[in-house]
Amino acid sequence: MTATERPPYAGTRYPRLADVEAFRAWIAEGWDAVETAPDLETGAAAAAADHRARLSERMPDATIVAASGIAPVRNDDASYGFRADSGFVWLTNCQAEDAVLVMTPRPGGHDAVLFLPPPFRPGETGFFANAMHGELWVGPSAGLAEWSAALGIDVRPLAEFDAGALTGAHFSDSAARRLGVPASADLERSVSVLRMVKDAWEIAQMRAAVDASVAGFGATVGEIPRAIADGLGERWLQGTFDRHARTHGNGPGYSTIVGSGRHAPTLHWVRCDGPVLEDELLLLDMGVEMRSLYTADVTRTFPASGTFSPAGREAHDLVEKAHRAGLAQIRPGTAYLDFHFAAMEVIATGLHDWGLLPVSVDEALSPRGQHHRRYLACGIGHHLGLDVHDCSQAHYEDYMGADLIPGVVMTVEPGLYFHAHDLTLPPELRGIGVRLEDDVLVTETGSEVLSDALPIDADGVERYTRERMGIS
Ligand code: GLY
Ligand code: MN
Ligand code: MN
Repeated sequence: MTATERPPYAGTRYPRLADVEAFRAWIAEGWDAVETAPDLETGAAAAAADHRARLSERMPDATIVAASGIAPVRNDDASYGFRADSGFVWLTNCQAEDAVLVMTPRPGGHDAVLFLPPPFRPGETGFFANAMHGELWVGPSAGLAEWSAALGIDVRPLAEFDAGALTGAHFSDSAARRLGVPASADLERSVSVLRMVKDAWEIAQMRAAVDASVAGFGATVGEIPRAIADGLGERWLQGTFDRHARTHGNGPGYSTIVGSGRHAPTLHWVRCDGPVLEDELLLLDMGVEMRSLYTADVTRTFPASGTFSPAGREAHDLVEKAHRAGLAQIRPGTAYLDFHFAAMEVIATGLHDWGLLPVSVDEALSPRGQHHRRYLACGIGHHLGLDVHDCSQAHYEDYMGADLIPGVVMTVEPGLYFHAHDLTLPPELRGIGVRLEDDVLVTETGSEVLSDALPIDADGVERYTRERMGIS
Protein backbone atom coordinates (compact mmCIF):
# COMPACT_ATOMS: atom_id res chain seq x y z
CA MET A 1 0.00 0.00 0.00
CA THR A 2 1.44 3.36 -0.90
CA ALA A 3 1.11 6.43 1.26
CA THR A 4 -1.76 7.74 -0.86
CA GLU A 5 -3.80 4.51 -0.88
CA ARG A 6 -6.32 3.93 1.92
CA PRO A 7 -7.32 0.46 3.14
CA PRO A 8 -10.89 -0.61 2.42
CA TYR A 9 -11.89 -0.22 6.11
CA ALA A 10 -10.53 3.33 6.39
CA GLY A 11 -13.28 5.77 7.14
CA THR A 12 -15.38 3.21 9.00
CA ARG A 13 -16.27 3.98 12.56
CA TYR A 14 -13.65 3.04 15.22
CA PRO A 15 -14.81 -0.39 16.41
CA ARG A 16 -16.08 -0.83 19.96
CA LEU A 17 -14.44 -4.11 20.91
CA ALA A 18 -17.27 -5.25 23.14
CA ASP A 19 -19.53 -5.21 20.08
CA VAL A 20 -17.20 -7.26 17.89
CA GLU A 21 -18.33 -10.88 18.04
CA ALA A 22 -15.15 -12.39 16.56
CA PHE A 23 -12.92 -10.42 18.92
CA ARG A 24 -14.96 -11.41 21.98
CA ALA A 25 -14.75 -15.08 21.10
CA TRP A 26 -11.03 -14.90 20.38
CA ILE A 27 -10.02 -13.06 23.56
CA ALA A 28 -12.20 -15.18 25.81
CA GLU A 29 -10.06 -18.27 25.34
CA GLY A 30 -6.46 -19.36 25.78
CA TRP A 31 -5.53 -17.95 29.16
CA ASP A 32 -3.64 -19.96 31.72
CA ALA A 33 -4.61 -19.82 35.41
CA VAL A 34 -2.66 -17.22 37.43
CA GLU A 35 -1.84 -17.14 41.14
CA THR A 36 -3.79 -14.23 42.66
CA ALA A 37 -3.71 -14.72 46.44
CA PRO A 38 -3.43 -11.33 48.18
CA ASP A 39 0.05 -10.53 49.40
CA LEU A 40 -0.57 -9.99 53.12
CA GLU A 41 1.89 -9.63 55.96
CA THR A 42 1.92 -12.63 58.30
CA GLY A 43 -0.55 -12.02 61.12
CA ALA A 44 -2.54 -9.39 59.21
CA ALA A 45 -5.81 -11.34 59.22
CA ALA A 46 -5.66 -12.08 62.95
CA ALA A 47 -4.81 -8.45 63.78
CA ALA A 48 -7.78 -7.17 61.78
CA ALA A 49 -10.12 -9.73 63.39
CA ASP A 50 -8.95 -8.53 66.79
CA HIS A 51 -9.56 -4.90 65.81
CA ARG A 52 -13.11 -5.78 64.72
CA ALA A 53 -13.67 -7.52 68.06
CA ARG A 54 -12.53 -4.40 69.91
CA LEU A 55 -14.88 -2.20 67.90
CA SER A 56 -17.69 -4.70 68.41
CA GLU A 57 -17.19 -4.48 72.15
CA ARG A 58 -17.25 -0.67 72.08
CA MET A 59 -20.32 -0.41 69.82
CA PRO A 60 -22.21 -3.66 70.59
CA ASP A 61 -25.57 -2.63 69.15
CA ALA A 62 -24.40 -0.74 66.10
CA THR A 63 -24.48 -1.83 62.48
CA ILE A 64 -21.14 -0.62 61.19
CA VAL A 65 -20.24 0.16 57.59
CA ALA A 66 -16.72 1.09 56.46
CA ALA A 67 -15.29 1.43 52.96
CA SER A 68 -11.85 1.38 51.39
CA GLY A 69 -12.73 4.23 49.01
CA ILE A 70 -11.98 4.94 45.37
CA ALA A 71 -8.96 6.67 43.87
CA PRO A 72 -9.81 10.23 42.83
CA VAL A 73 -10.00 10.73 39.08
CA ARG A 74 -7.22 12.82 37.57
CA ASN A 75 -8.46 12.82 34.00
CA ASP A 76 -10.60 10.46 31.94
CA ASP A 77 -9.63 6.95 33.08
CA ALA A 78 -6.38 8.12 34.73
CA SER A 79 -6.67 8.21 38.50
CA TYR A 80 -4.43 9.36 41.31
CA GLY A 81 -2.79 6.47 43.11
CA PHE A 82 -5.21 4.49 45.27
CA ARG A 83 -4.57 4.33 48.97
CA ALA A 84 -7.16 2.50 51.05
CA ASP A 85 -8.87 4.32 53.92
CA SER A 86 -6.95 3.80 57.16
CA GLY A 87 -9.94 2.97 59.36
CA PHE A 88 -11.08 0.37 56.85
CA VAL A 89 -7.59 -1.12 56.70
CA TRP A 90 -7.43 -1.24 60.49
CA LEU A 91 -10.66 -3.29 60.49
CA THR A 92 -9.83 -5.61 57.58
CA ASN A 93 -6.21 -5.42 56.40
CA CYS A 94 -7.74 -5.50 52.94
CA GLN A 95 -6.46 -2.88 50.51
CA ALA A 96 -8.80 -3.61 47.60
CA GLU A 97 -10.33 -0.56 45.97
CA ASP A 98 -14.06 0.09 46.41
CA ALA A 99 -14.52 -2.56 49.10
CA VAL A 100 -17.18 -2.26 51.82
CA LEU A 101 -17.22 -3.89 55.25
CA VAL A 102 -20.51 -4.45 57.03
CA MET A 103 -20.55 -5.53 60.68
CA THR A 104 -23.99 -6.61 61.85
CA PRO A 105 -24.67 -7.03 65.58
CA ARG A 106 -25.70 -10.41 66.98
CA PRO A 107 -25.74 -11.61 70.57
CA GLY A 108 -22.15 -11.60 71.81
CA GLY A 109 -20.56 -9.79 68.91
CA HIS A 110 -20.90 -8.89 65.24
CA ASP A 111 -21.02 -10.80 61.96
CA ALA A 112 -18.66 -9.30 59.42
CA VAL A 113 -19.09 -9.42 55.64
CA LEU A 114 -16.72 -7.88 53.15
CA PHE A 115 -18.22 -6.79 49.83
CA LEU A 116 -15.76 -6.52 46.95
CA PRO A 117 -15.93 -5.75 43.25
CA PRO A 118 -14.80 -9.04 41.69
CA PRO A 119 -12.06 -8.64 39.11
CA PHE A 120 -13.17 -9.30 35.53
CA ARG A 121 -11.40 -12.39 34.31
CA PRO A 122 -10.99 -14.03 30.88
CA GLY A 123 -14.37 -14.81 29.32
CA GLU A 124 -16.03 -11.69 30.74
CA THR A 125 -16.47 -8.51 28.71
CA GLY A 126 -15.01 -6.45 31.54
CA PHE A 127 -11.75 -8.40 31.20
CA PHE A 128 -10.81 -6.18 28.26
CA ALA A 129 -13.45 -3.42 28.53
CA ASN A 130 -13.29 -2.29 32.17
CA ALA A 131 -10.21 -0.19 32.96
CA MET A 132 -10.83 -0.29 36.72
CA HIS A 133 -11.43 -3.98 37.37
CA GLY A 134 -10.55 -5.75 34.11
CA GLU A 135 -7.49 -7.93 34.56
CA LEU A 136 -6.23 -7.04 31.08
CA TRP A 137 -5.94 -3.46 32.38
CA VAL A 138 -4.97 -3.84 36.01
CA GLY A 139 -3.33 -7.25 36.04
CA PRO A 140 -4.43 -10.49 37.65
CA SER A 141 -6.13 -9.63 40.95
CA ALA A 142 -7.36 -11.46 44.01
CA GLY A 143 -10.96 -12.61 43.70
CA LEU A 144 -13.57 -13.12 46.38
CA ALA A 145 -12.49 -16.64 47.27
CA GLU A 146 -8.84 -15.63 47.61
CA TRP A 147 -9.68 -12.68 49.84
CA SER A 148 -11.95 -14.85 51.96
CA ALA A 149 -9.24 -17.48 52.41
CA ALA A 150 -6.58 -14.89 53.24
CA LEU A 151 -8.66 -12.91 55.74
CA GLY A 152 -10.92 -15.61 57.18
CA ILE A 153 -13.99 -13.47 56.55
CA ASP A 154 -17.17 -13.90 54.53
CA VAL A 155 -16.63 -12.12 51.19
CA ARG A 156 -19.43 -11.36 48.73
CA PRO A 157 -19.73 -9.45 45.44
CA LEU A 158 -20.20 -5.71 45.82
CA ALA A 159 -23.36 -5.94 43.69
CA GLU A 160 -25.03 -7.70 46.64
CA PHE A 161 -24.34 -4.79 48.98
CA ASP A 162 -27.56 -2.90 49.68
CA ALA A 163 -27.06 0.36 51.54
CA GLY A 164 -30.84 0.91 51.55
CA ALA A 165 -31.28 -2.13 53.78
CA LEU A 166 -29.03 -0.61 56.44
CA THR A 167 -31.23 2.07 58.00
CA GLY A 168 -29.76 3.34 61.24
CA ALA A 169 -26.30 2.01 60.44
CA HIS A 170 -23.14 3.88 61.39
CA PHE A 171 -21.24 4.79 58.24
CA SER A 172 -17.56 5.68 58.40
CA ASP A 173 -16.42 8.86 56.62
CA SER A 174 -15.17 6.87 53.65
CA ALA A 175 -18.36 4.79 53.44
CA ALA A 176 -20.47 7.94 53.72
CA ARG A 177 -18.53 9.57 50.87
CA ARG A 178 -18.88 6.49 48.71
CA LEU A 179 -22.58 5.99 49.39
CA GLY A 180 -23.73 9.60 49.69
CA VAL A 181 -25.11 9.20 53.21
CA PRO A 182 -24.29 11.03 56.48
CA ALA A 183 -21.19 9.84 58.34
CA SER A 184 -21.26 8.66 61.94
CA ALA A 185 -19.09 10.88 64.15
CA ASP A 186 -19.51 8.26 66.86
CA LEU A 187 -17.95 5.55 64.66
CA GLU A 188 -15.07 7.78 63.55
CA ARG A 189 -14.37 8.74 67.15
CA SER A 190 -14.54 5.13 68.34
CA VAL A 191 -12.14 3.88 65.69
CA SER A 192 -9.74 6.75 66.41
CA VAL A 193 -9.76 5.98 70.14
CA LEU A 194 -9.25 2.26 69.59
CA ARG A 195 -6.43 2.87 67.12
CA MET A 196 -4.50 4.81 69.77
CA VAL A 197 -3.30 1.58 71.35
CA LYS A 198 -1.18 -0.45 68.98
CA ASP A 199 -1.04 -4.23 69.39
CA ALA A 200 2.08 -6.33 68.95
CA TRP A 201 1.50 -6.82 65.21
CA GLU A 202 1.08 -3.10 64.67
CA ILE A 203 4.15 -2.29 66.74
CA ALA A 204 6.16 -4.64 64.54
CA GLN A 205 4.89 -2.74 61.48
CA MET A 206 5.84 0.57 63.10
CA ARG A 207 9.31 -0.70 63.88
CA ALA A 208 9.74 -1.79 60.28
CA ALA A 209 8.53 1.62 59.05
CA VAL A 210 10.97 3.44 61.30
CA ASP A 211 13.86 1.17 60.32
CA ALA A 212 13.12 1.67 56.63
CA SER A 213 12.94 5.43 57.21
CA VAL A 214 16.26 5.49 59.05
CA ALA A 215 17.83 3.68 56.10
CA GLY A 216 16.18 6.22 53.81
CA PHE A 217 17.79 9.07 55.75
CA GLY A 218 21.16 7.44 55.13
CA ALA A 219 20.50 7.15 51.40
CA THR A 220 19.26 10.73 51.20
CA VAL A 221 22.05 12.35 53.21
CA GLY A 222 24.50 10.44 51.02
CA GLU A 223 23.14 12.35 48.03
CA ILE A 224 23.67 15.83 49.53
CA PRO A 225 27.05 16.38 47.78
CA ARG A 226 25.50 15.50 44.42
CA ALA A 227 22.46 17.68 45.06
CA ILE A 228 24.82 20.61 45.72
CA ALA A 229 27.55 20.01 43.14
CA ASP A 230 25.30 19.10 40.22
CA GLY A 231 22.67 21.71 41.09
CA LEU A 232 20.02 19.00 41.48
CA GLY A 233 18.67 20.64 44.61
CA GLU A 234 15.88 19.71 46.99
CA ARG A 235 14.03 17.83 44.25
CA TRP A 236 16.84 15.27 44.03
CA LEU A 237 16.79 14.56 47.75
CA GLN A 238 12.99 14.34 47.78
CA GLY A 239 13.16 11.92 44.86
CA THR A 240 15.88 9.91 46.56
CA PHE A 241 13.84 9.35 49.69
CA ASP A 242 10.59 8.75 47.85
CA ARG A 243 12.24 6.13 45.63
CA HIS A 244 13.64 4.47 48.73
CA ALA A 245 10.19 4.53 50.36
CA ARG A 246 8.54 3.06 47.27
CA THR A 247 11.17 0.34 46.98
CA HIS A 248 11.21 -0.72 50.61
CA GLY A 249 7.62 0.07 51.54
CA ASN A 250 4.48 1.34 49.88
CA GLY A 251 5.81 4.87 49.47
CA PRO A 252 6.28 8.03 51.52
CA GLY A 253 3.76 8.19 54.39
CA TYR A 254 3.17 11.90 53.76
CA SER A 255 4.61 14.54 51.46
CA THR A 256 8.35 14.48 52.01
CA ILE A 257 9.79 17.74 53.36
CA VAL A 258 13.24 18.81 52.15
CA GLY A 259 14.05 22.37 53.20
CA SER A 260 17.44 23.96 52.59
CA GLY A 261 18.42 27.30 54.10
CA ARG A 262 15.53 29.76 54.14
CA HIS A 263 13.13 26.90 53.34
CA ALA A 264 14.03 25.00 56.50
CA PRO A 265 11.82 27.17 58.76
CA THR A 266 8.76 26.61 56.55
CA LEU A 267 6.83 23.96 58.48
CA HIS A 268 5.50 22.05 55.49
CA TRP A 269 8.03 22.81 52.79
CA VAL A 270 6.69 20.20 50.39
CA ARG A 271 7.43 22.23 47.26
CA CYS A 272 11.03 20.99 47.49
CA ASP A 273 11.97 22.99 44.44
CA GLY A 274 14.95 25.00 45.68
CA PRO A 275 18.69 24.49 45.59
CA VAL A 276 20.60 22.71 48.35
CA LEU A 277 22.99 25.30 49.74
CA GLU A 278 26.30 24.14 51.13
CA ASP A 279 26.59 26.64 53.98
CA GLU A 280 23.03 26.26 55.21
CA LEU A 281 20.97 23.87 57.28
CA LEU A 282 18.98 21.15 55.58
CA LEU A 283 15.79 19.99 57.27
CA LEU A 284 14.56 16.54 56.25
CA ASP A 285 11.13 15.34 57.47
CA MET A 286 10.54 11.94 55.90
CA GLY A 287 8.74 8.69 56.64
CA VAL A 288 8.34 5.36 54.90
CA GLU A 289 4.84 3.90 54.81
CA MET A 290 5.14 0.13 54.78
CA ARG A 291 3.04 -2.10 52.52
CA SER A 292 0.83 -2.66 55.57
CA LEU A 293 0.29 1.17 55.38
CA TYR A 294 1.81 1.91 58.81
CA THR A 295 4.11 4.91 58.60
CA ALA A 296 7.04 6.51 60.38
CA ASP A 297 7.50 10.30 60.71
CA VAL A 298 11.07 11.36 61.41
CA THR A 299 12.93 14.68 61.18
CA ARG A 300 16.57 15.59 61.45
CA THR A 301 18.33 18.82 60.55
CA PHE A 302 21.76 18.53 58.94
CA PRO A 303 24.51 21.03 58.21
CA ALA A 304 24.90 20.53 54.45
CA SER A 305 28.64 21.22 54.71
CA GLY A 306 29.07 18.64 57.48
CA THR A 307 29.72 21.36 60.10
CA PHE A 308 27.16 23.53 61.92
CA SER A 309 27.61 27.30 61.88
CA PRO A 310 27.80 28.74 65.43
CA ALA A 311 24.22 30.06 65.18
CA GLY A 312 22.99 26.81 63.64
CA ARG A 313 24.60 24.80 66.42
CA GLU A 314 23.12 27.06 69.09
CA ALA A 315 19.63 26.62 67.67
CA HIS A 316 20.16 22.87 67.34
CA ASP A 317 21.37 22.62 70.94
CA LEU A 318 18.27 24.38 72.25
CA VAL A 319 15.96 22.16 70.23
CA GLU A 320 17.86 19.09 71.45
CA LYS A 321 17.41 20.23 75.05
CA ALA A 322 13.68 20.74 74.51
CA HIS A 323 13.46 17.38 72.75
CA ARG A 324 15.11 15.55 75.62
CA ALA A 325 12.82 17.31 78.11
CA GLY A 326 9.80 16.22 76.07
CA LEU A 327 10.99 12.63 75.66
CA ALA A 328 11.57 12.36 79.42
CA GLN A 329 7.81 12.81 79.98
CA ILE A 330 6.75 9.89 77.83
CA ARG A 331 5.69 7.00 80.05
CA PRO A 332 2.43 5.40 81.17
CA GLY A 333 0.39 7.55 83.53
CA THR A 334 1.74 10.96 82.57
CA ALA A 335 -0.67 13.35 80.94
CA TYR A 336 -0.34 13.36 77.13
CA LEU A 337 0.44 17.09 77.14
CA ASP A 338 3.23 16.86 79.71
CA PHE A 339 5.83 16.42 76.96
CA HIS A 340 4.51 19.55 75.28
CA PHE A 341 4.76 21.70 78.39
CA ALA A 342 8.21 20.37 79.29
CA ALA A 343 9.61 21.07 75.83
CA MET A 344 7.94 24.48 75.57
CA GLU A 345 9.40 25.58 78.89
CA VAL A 346 12.89 24.87 77.58
CA ILE A 347 12.18 26.68 74.31
CA ALA A 348 10.66 29.74 76.00
CA THR A 349 13.52 29.97 78.49
CA GLY A 350 16.11 29.70 75.74
CA LEU A 351 14.42 32.31 73.58
CA HIS A 352 14.13 34.61 76.58
CA ASP A 353 17.84 34.18 77.34
CA TRP A 354 18.56 35.22 73.76
CA GLY A 355 16.49 38.37 74.25
CA LEU A 356 13.85 37.33 71.75
CA LEU A 357 10.76 37.45 73.96
CA PRO A 358 8.98 40.73 74.70
CA VAL A 359 7.66 39.33 78.02
CA SER A 360 8.87 37.11 80.87
CA VAL A 361 9.09 33.34 80.44
CA ASP A 362 6.06 32.89 82.70
CA GLU A 363 3.99 35.37 80.73
CA ALA A 364 5.00 33.72 77.47
CA LEU A 365 4.14 30.23 78.76
CA SER A 366 0.77 31.35 80.12
CA PRO A 367 -2.23 30.40 77.97
CA ARG A 368 -2.78 34.14 77.47
CA GLY A 369 0.77 34.77 76.19
CA GLN A 370 2.41 32.16 73.94
CA HIS A 371 4.87 34.67 72.51
CA HIS A 372 7.51 31.96 72.04
CA ARG A 373 5.20 30.21 69.62
CA ARG A 374 6.03 32.88 67.04
CA TYR A 375 9.07 30.70 66.42
CA LEU A 376 7.27 27.38 66.88
CA ALA A 377 3.65 27.82 65.86
CA CYS A 378 2.91 24.13 65.17
CA GLY A 379 2.10 21.22 67.44
CA ILE A 380 5.15 19.33 68.64
CA GLY A 381 3.81 15.79 68.61
CA HIS A 382 0.94 13.55 67.61
CA HIS A 383 -0.20 9.95 67.53
CA LEU A 384 1.32 7.95 64.70
CA GLY A 385 0.20 4.75 62.97
CA LEU A 386 -1.70 4.05 59.77
CA ASP A 387 -1.92 7.82 59.34
CA VAL A 388 0.88 10.25 59.97
CA HIS A 389 -1.50 12.26 62.14
CA ASP A 390 -3.19 9.19 63.51
CA CYS A 391 -6.46 9.00 65.43
CA SER A 392 -7.38 12.55 64.46
CA GLN A 393 -11.11 12.07 65.04
CA ALA A 394 -10.63 11.42 68.75
CA HIS A 395 -12.06 14.14 70.98
CA TYR A 396 -9.86 16.43 73.06
CA GLU A 397 -10.46 14.41 76.23
CA ASP A 398 -9.45 11.16 74.48
CA TYR A 399 -6.29 12.66 73.01
CA MET A 400 -4.71 15.87 74.30
CA GLY A 401 -6.57 15.59 77.60
CA ALA A 402 -5.83 11.89 78.19
CA ASP A 403 -3.05 10.09 80.04
CA LEU A 404 -0.49 8.04 78.16
CA ILE A 405 -0.98 4.28 78.15
CA PRO A 406 1.19 1.41 76.92
CA GLY A 407 0.85 0.77 73.19
CA VAL A 408 0.63 4.43 72.22
CA VAL A 409 3.02 5.41 69.44
CA MET A 410 3.57 9.14 69.08
CA THR A 411 6.01 11.68 67.77
CA VAL A 412 7.93 14.25 69.75
CA GLU A 413 9.05 17.04 67.45
CA PRO A 414 10.09 20.38 68.88
CA GLY A 415 11.76 22.89 66.60
CA LEU A 416 12.74 26.49 66.07
CA TYR A 417 11.68 28.28 62.93
CA PHE A 418 13.46 31.56 62.34
CA HIS A 419 12.22 32.96 59.06
CA ALA A 420 14.58 34.87 56.82
CA HIS A 421 12.16 37.82 56.70
CA ASP A 422 11.36 37.94 60.44
CA LEU A 423 12.51 41.39 61.56
CA THR A 424 12.37 40.49 65.27
CA LEU A 425 15.46 38.32 64.80
CA PRO A 426 19.14 39.25 64.75
CA PRO A 427 20.59 38.69 61.26
CA GLU A 428 22.59 35.60 62.25
CA LEU A 429 19.43 33.71 63.24
CA ARG A 430 17.40 34.57 60.16
CA GLY A 431 16.86 31.66 57.82
CA ILE A 432 17.55 28.98 60.44
CA GLY A 433 15.05 26.18 60.84
CA VAL A 434 15.65 23.18 63.10
CA ARG A 435 13.37 20.29 63.98
CA LEU A 436 14.11 17.02 65.76
CA GLU A 437 11.37 14.45 65.39
CA ASP A 438 11.38 10.97 66.88
CA ASP A 439 8.81 8.19 66.97
CA VAL A 440 8.22 6.93 70.48
CA LEU A 441 6.46 3.83 71.82
CA VAL A 442 4.92 3.98 75.28
CA THR A 443 5.85 0.69 76.99
CA GLU A 444 4.61 -0.89 80.23
CA THR A 445 7.41 0.72 82.19
CA GLY A 446 8.44 3.81 80.23
CA SER A 447 9.08 4.48 76.61
CA GLU A 448 11.22 3.42 73.68
CA VAL A 449 12.48 5.83 71.03
CA LEU A 450 12.03 3.74 67.90
CA SER A 451 14.06 6.13 65.74
CA ASP A 452 17.06 6.48 68.03
CA ALA A 453 19.42 5.06 65.41
CA LEU A 454 19.64 8.65 64.15
CA PRO A 455 21.64 11.05 66.39
CA ILE A 456 20.00 14.05 68.02
CA ASP A 457 23.06 15.88 69.35
CA ALA A 458 24.93 18.34 67.14
CA ASP A 459 28.24 16.45 67.33
CA GLY A 460 26.51 13.20 66.46
CA VAL A 461 24.60 14.83 63.61
CA GLU A 462 27.84 16.26 62.19
CA ARG A 463 29.57 12.88 62.41
CA TYR A 464 26.61 11.17 60.76
CA THR A 465 26.41 13.77 57.99
CA ARG A 466 30.11 13.57 57.16
CA GLU A 467 30.15 9.81 57.25
CA ARG A 468 27.18 9.55 54.90
CA MET A 469 28.58 12.22 52.59
CA GLY A 470 31.98 10.52 52.54
CA ILE A 471 33.95 13.45 53.97
CA SER A 472 36.23 13.38 57.01
N1 GLY B 1 5.58 15.53 58.67
C1 GLY B 1 4.41 15.95 59.33
C2 GLY B 1 4.60 16.03 60.76
O1 GLY B 1 5.70 16.00 61.23
O2 GLY B 1 3.69 16.07 61.52
MN1 MN C 1 5.11 14.67 62.88
MN1 MN D 1 7.30 14.98 60.42
